[in-house]
Amino acid sequence: MANIEIRKYRDEDCETVKELFISGMNEHLPLSFMHVLKQPLTHMLLMCTFCSLMATAKSVLLPVLAVTLLLAGARQMIVHMFNTYIEASLKNDLNSIDETYLKQRNSCFWVAESDGQVVGTVACVPAENAPEFLELKRMSVRRSHRGKGIAKALCRTVADFTRDRGYPAVILYTSMVATDAQRLYEHMGYKKIRQFPLPEFFAKIINFTLIEYRLDLEKEK
Ligand SMILES: CC(C)(COP(=O)(O)OP(=O)(O)OC[C@H]1O[C@@H](n2cnc3c(N)ncnc32)[C@H](O)[C@@H]1OP(=O)(O)O)[C@@H](O)C(=O)NCCC(=O)NCCS
Repeated sequence: MANIEIRKYRDEDCETVKELFISGMNEHLPLSFMHVLKQPLTHMLLMCTFCSLMATAKSVLLPVLAVTLLLAGARQMIVHMFNTYIEASLKNDLNSIDETYLKQRNSCFWVAESDGQVVGTVACVPAENAPEFLELKRMSVRRSHRGKGIAKALCRTVADFTRDRGYPAVILYTSMVATDAQRLYEHMGYKKIRQFPLPEFFAKIINFTLIEYRLDLEKEK
């Protein structure tokens, strides 16, 4: 991992950090759409629409158009779901990293810097629903710098910080479509605790789930 420095966030990193977060999240759109296409409910809806329009319309054009519109609608719903999450994340913490992470006890925000450029981010805070643990958040690495061990180094930074603060474990949440992230966390020793659906109606009907992972630190030497 040559020329990579992990340091605390500074105000001048603000725009790059947000850009890394947004592009990292948007990478999950194609896999999310594929997930929707694989759902039995989607197959049923498309088949029923196609067959009923074929039976009533005189041409094949209308059923094809209707199916295309349904697929475009589903894609828009996914984009909306991600945009809502991105907007909430900006509002809740990424527009005020200093206040949310650096001025709070037991919280921090780090960036990975390569040749003066911010190429990775990670944060941790006491977990909202389990304050006895710290939660790893905002993990993202620029595409051009992937596969160099930057995310592993960021994971270790969070684990060391959590151990130094006397917490027994790090927890995190990731989505079912973030497969690179799942491999990373499992590689770093995180164990899957549970998988559960997002509360939003659209996420529920497409069976879009989050995965909770935990890294127990007592067991580490
Ligand atoms: C997940 C992510 C942070 C990994 O960043 P990275 O710097 O490329 O990861 P590393 O080089 O440190 O790889 C760490 C380990 O993760 C696993 N891994 C990461 N990307 C992988 C891939 N594409 N295929 C297979 N394994 C992968 C490997 O086990 C790897 O260890 P190894 O190289 O010793 O085999 C990066 O892909 C990313 O930013 N994705 C988009 C945003 C995102 O999903 N964030 C997580 C939200 S919870």
